[in-house]
Amino acid sequence: MADKRKVLLQFDTDQHASSFDSLVAIDAGADVILPYANVGLEQIVDLIHGAMFTRGLDDLCRTAAFFGGSNYELSEKLYQRSLGAFFGPVRVSLMLDPNGANTTAVAAIRAVETHTSLDGKQVAILGGTGPVGTRLASLASKLGAQVRLFSRNKQRADEAIGRLPDFARRELIQGVLLPNEANRATVLNESDILIAAGGAGVQFFPENWLSEATGLKIAVDLNAVPPAGLPSIEPHDTGVLRGQGTVCFGPLGVGGLKMKIHKGCLRALFEANHRHLATLEIYELAQHYG
Ligand SMILES: NC(=O)c1ccc[n+]([C@@H]2O[C@H](COP(=O)([O-])OP(=O)(O)OC[C@H]3O[C@@H](n4cnc5c(N)ncnc54)[C@H](OP(=O)(O)O)[C@@H]3O)[C@@H](O)[C@H]2O)c1
Repeated sequence: MADKRKVLLQFDTDQHASSFDSLVAIDAGADVILPYANVGLEQIVDLIHGAMFTRGLDDLCRTAAFFGGSNYELSEKLYQRSLGAFFGPVRVSLMLDPNGANTTAVAAIRAVETHTSLDGKQVAILGGTGPVGTRLASLASKLGAQVRLFSRNKQRADEAIGRLPDFARRELIQGVLLPNEANRATVLNESDILIAAGGAGVQFFPENWLSEATGLKIAVDLNAVPPAGLPSIEPHDTGVLRGQGTVCFGPLGVGGLKMKIHKGCLRALFEANHRHLATLEIYELAQHYG
């Protein structure tokens, strides 16, 4: 009799496979997690062949693979190379979410969408060159927003835009230097939506920044490590009105939705053997999770 256990191969680019990703997978219903650390391009096809050829066709929906770790670009290459190893129905479902970048960016966009459509909006992304910021910029542009991707270095911002996934509408995205005290109010008031996606513990603005933001409709801070990225947004804020009427989301407010999306996508992996979930597919599935 075929083994009906749901098995997740967890491919991680770091020295240790993420315990967070393992635990979320168990909570989402995976029966067995097979964690692989330090996975490189030389190993991935053999590992994926193990997932493809061990169980019969009818049982492939009970094997899936998750790509994580702190190196987004390498994880994405592993994911792409795995897709290239499949043929016909001989495939397993895959999910790409290195350091939670896709599920976090999708959760932030979905949080914003509970209040407004992004189409035609001016979106400012602080710390926009990281894995979360670049996914945010890609999704926001896809949804029709004009995006300014802020960095401490203009060249880094432009290079990050050059590396965005194909679905991003690059013509709607502009790389910009982080605002300083002199132009902060202007940047705030030229934006409908502000998202802080800087590294952990990076604070962008001083305490009183919200008083300058007279036209800002929505502000999202994704940094959960003190000090806050956008002070005066509280970690648990989920659509709380602050300042001059800005709807605010804090990192734990967005984090709750991120966890729902992460688990929902993992469950979806085991519903069929052909789910291939990267940024855009995770966004599409997330419509069902909030
Ligand atoms: N709430 C949640 O559920 C959740 C889940 C996952 C991640 N997160 C958070 O999401 C945020 C983004 O994650 P990530 O992995 O994309 O971040 P990251 O790669 O560590 O950093 C993003 C960008 O921050 C900028 N930065 C770094 N140090 C800075 C400084 N001192 N001053 C100004 N800018 C600085 C850098 O851009 P430049 O060098 O180009 O300026 C960097 O590319 C993090 O705070 C992370 O903890 C939250």
